[in-house]
Amino acid sequence: MKIAIAGTGYVGLVTGVCLAEVGHTNVVCVDVDDKKVDLMKAGVSPIHEDNLEELMIKNYQLGRIDYTTDYKSAYKDADVIMIAVGTPERSDGSANLDYIKQVAKQISQTITKDTLIVIKSTVPIGTNDKIESYIRNNLKNNVKIELASNPEFLSQGSAVVDTLQASRIVVGVESEWAKDILDEIYKPFNQPIVVTNRNSAEMIKYASNDFLALKISFMNDIANLCEIVGANIEDVAKGMSYDDRIGSKFLKAGIGYGGSCFPKDTKALHWLSSHNGYELKTVKAAIEVNESQKLRLVRKASKLVESFEGMKVAILGLTFKPDTDDLREAPSIPNIKYLIERGANVVAYDPVGVKNTKKIFGDSIEYATSIDEAISDSEICFIMTEWSQIVNYDISNYKSKMKNPLLLDGRNCYKVEDMSNIGIEYYSIGR
Ligand code: UDX
Repeated sequence: MKIAIAGTGYVGLVTGVCLAEVGHTNVVCVDVDDKKVDLMKAGVSPIHEDNLEELMIKNYQLGRIDYTTDYKSAYKDADVIMIAVGTPERSDGSANLDYIKQVAKQISQTITKDTLIVIKSTVPIGTNDKIESYIRNNLKNNVKIELASNPEFLSQGSAVVDTLQASRIVVGVESEWAKDILDEIYKPFNQPIVVTNRNSAEMIKYASNDFLALKISFMNDIANLCEIVGANIEDVAKGMSYDDRIGSKFLKAGIGYGGSCFPKDTKALHWLSSHNGYELKTVKAAIEVNESQKLRLVRKASKLVESFEGMKVAILGLTFKPDTDDLREAPSIPNIKYLIERGANVVAYDPVGVKNTKKIFGDSIEYATSIDEAISDSEICFIMTEWSQIVNYDISNYKSKMKNPLLLDGRNCYKVEDMSNIGIEYYSIGR
């Protein structure tokens, strides 16, 4: 079976490599960027993911996977084309389907045999139906096509494991033909397969992400109340987690969720519901809590100091979560903007996120290559991401190296009592 994949972002590349890894022998990943394609052929991944490059090299050498910019040769004789291009947020919150439409147009003009087209990108409910009509109406050759929805649930930083050991594979199909093809593709993964119709599959993806976002915002809301009433959010989360109905995951309070999915998918579903005359109040609340949570610590700090003007401020952690170089929607961004606008001299440290941070802030902030360097002589330090380097850092250094040891920890990396024992003014979330 020849499987072509449109788009080599997190979803497309990881899916392609994992399909090859489980034994599919004719996988071709399509991207528009020549340089990126050359690098991928050489085993260089455009994204930072554990074990991905090893699997890229192995499967490329085995001849199971290839990379190309030549979409015509990739699509023309493919049995299955998976669409895994981005669906970024528009300014009104809706999902931008331009990349999907572009691929649909290319497919309609190139395929020469019956093809199952699978949308892996997160798309608004009804998109599979619309793209199917579009392709059918624009087919150059007389072939059979059908669309299937197959959303992806991987998390950045654990993308390969999440794909090879998926919690479930969701397949939204309208025929036995489509179901049988997807069964064959996913059989080697040996994971539970949920079969439903296309609209439900599209909704499963949004509902899953938005529920997780809601869980985080709920805990952040409770954490803020904990601070007022003298409770400890970590004990509260632990106490809640023993109830199987609640579970132990995604209960960690902090300075809000970021990344390429939760912010975009909450806004897109909220937009879709409003557009259909229904207000999704829970999702709206999740979005609002998250927006205010992101700036909670800088706002607190602005009450503790007279002014940030000319002050050296250390920022530890820039990426939206650890083990990724991705800064999309990272809480660090609005925080740094807030500090720069108020005249602070920001010195930032992140083990892998500096390159992407430079694309946003350029020379308007300084970049440190170690925590020691970032905090030395600083008057305030904010923690934005719980990298292991930060969690395992010798906390006595905050006392000895900072000019004024005032630490605001957005990810609850340290124990409150350890900080008070050392004599550091320490604020965290919900404790
Ligand atoms: C998420 C979903 O987990 C994944 O299933 C989906 O396919 C894509 O979106 P990802 O964005 O990679 O994955 O990261 P995730 O680990 O879910 O974290 C998202 C954000 O939530 C991060 O900013 C993280 O710091 C935050 N978070 C997560 C919390 O604040 N508390 C938690 O308990 C968990």
